[in-house]
Amino acid sequence: MPKRIAVLVSGGGTNLQALIDAQNRGEIVNGLLAAVISSNPKAYALERAEKAGIPHFVVSRKDYPSNQAMTQALVDKLRELNIDLVVLAGFMVILTQEMVQAYPNAILNVHPALIPSFAGPGCYGLHVHEKALEYGVKLSGATVHFVSEECDGGPIVSQKAVEVLPDDTPEILQRRIMEQCEWKLLPQAVSLFCQDRLRVEGRTVRVLD
Ligand code: GAR
Repeated sequence: MPKRIAVLVSGGGTNLQALIDAQNRGEIVNGLLAAVISSNPKAYALERAEKAGIPHFVVSRKDYPSNQAMTQALVDKLRELNIDLVVLAGFMVILTQEMVQAYPNAILNVHPALIPSFAGPGCYGLHVHEKALEYGVKLSGATVHFVSEECDGGPIVSQKAVEVLPDDTPEILQRRIMEQCEWKLLPQAVSLFCQDRLRVEGRTVRVLD
């Protein structure tokens, strides 16, 4: 039985698109994109899911009194859909411990920096690239990691670096990191998970042959 994957999104959904394209090329081995859940009813990611024929749902933060109540609603929905793997692909709400407890070592997040740099609360989306440029780093990149109770602090599955160039704007750097890092790393990590080839040993993730 293929593993059932839910992708949680909030915005444009280019990482979701990379997963859809990889699935269409047969590159998500033993996995099925079974659902897309958006925290934002206007997210373009929902249109991408619709076009790809993937069931899609909205769980909006404003319909719940707290992050915890929203997280519990998400867990209930994921359970109802028999989801095996949760992928955070540009999901902009910080989930509470209920999610990690429901899906231990079964939630992957893509972050647009080389963790532990430019990570943690407040480091999301374009802000990450603004901070990297402000700091003057010469390399940045992306990280795929398992989600733990610490924001952006779970075991790292994969990382890829790109150069930061002298005339970069946050938008230009974001695009380079998406194209060269995120859109490659995320489908690869999802496929490895679905083949049971990721083994978490403390903070280290071992990739099995
Ligand atoms: C991506 O760059 C993703 O890494 C980042 O938001 C963007 C979403 O783009 N996620 C975070 O910053 C999470 N901390 P997308 O909606 O086009 O995939």
